[in-house]
Amino acid sequence: MNLLKIQNLKNQAISSIIEAKDKDELEEIRVNYLGRKGEITQLIKELPSLEVDERKEVGILVNEIKQIIQNSIEEQLAKISHQSIEKKEKSIDVTAPGKKPKFGHLHVISQATQEITNIFEKIGFTLVNYPEVEWDWYAFEGLNMPPDHPARDEWETFFIKNLKNKKYGQAVLTPHTSSGQLREMKVSKPPIRMLNIAKCYRRQSDTSHAPMFYQFETLVIDKGINITHLKGTLDYFVKNYFGKDRETRIRPFHFQFTEPSFEVDITCLVCGGKGCKVCKEGWMEIGGAGMVHPKVLENGGIDSKKYTGFASGFGLERVLMMKYGIDDIRLLFGNNFKFLNQF
Ligand code: DAH
Repeated sequence: MNLLKIQNLKNQAISSIIEAKDKDELEEIRVNYLGRKGEITQLIKELPSLEVDERKEVGILVNEIKQIIQNSIEEQLAKISHQSIEKKEKSIDVTAPGKKPKFGHLHVISQATQEITNIFEKIGFTLVNYPEVEWDWYAFEGLNMPPDHPARDEWETFFIKNLKNKKYGQAVLTPHTSSGQLREMKVSKPPIRMLNIAKCYRRQSDTSHAPMFYQFETLVIDKGINITHLKGTLDYFVKNYFGKDRETRIRPFHFQFTEPSFEVDITCLVCGGKGCKVCKEGWMEIGGAGMVHPKVLENGGIDSKKYTGFASGFGLERVLMMKYGIDDIRLLFGNNFKFLNQF
């Protein structure tokens, strides 16, 4: 066997390995020399047919070459992968300004809840949290609306079948936050300054009503509380929530749980009180209020001869819609990002 030819084979292999530019090229070279039908493998196969002395000499050389080719392929492979990492790193511009990740934000209703809470907390109100599934007594009877009283019709209530309390009656989904008045009176003593913001449920759905919505309720009980305190608090809230120029008025009305009772109006967002297509006479209604009925105070365990109080209840979505000029309550629950990202 020609030893020079074998040496040449090695040189050829090494030079093509050094020139190889990627993994596939190297694999091809490996197969050509060391694969089952490769040139070196072929030489090894021929060894048994050689004379003993030649076989020994050629055998050692061929095995050495096989080792050298294997090592060179591995070295070249390592070099190629290192180069490709370097290339990638060079293409990163470390001076380029970073991309800001998108931040989410609170839902507009949560924002309003926080804003309203902040306004009332500044004048000493405490935010409370009472059950959403409530007994009839707290929602109606204790608020001076006995069973079958026609005033109940105002609250299109969801009653929960088969859930009844001997003393407090049928279970209901809170149709208004006024149930929180009795809850509060039972757990705390005057002076009371309560803010109850909670989900309410009624069987209703149109552009200004949703089956689930929020109300916020205030309750103040102390010695000598009168209508001026109520009016002052309403003014304070309206100016802080809607703006300094907004005026408030209270209009006689009837609720079973307050005496006297009022509806609360504010000057119109569009015309500022002059009168326009939206408001007609310059005023828009935002909720109900009144002086807590003595019977309700007694039901809450408070001496109505010693203490008086006022209460108010507003729809949270309603004030929010009036502030921003939103004309369909369903937008607030629709999860449309185009709408929500405006807030
Ligand atoms: N709870 C009444 C409603 O849902 C609103 C209301 C009226 C609340 C008068 C009050 C109040 O606290 O004094 O329509």
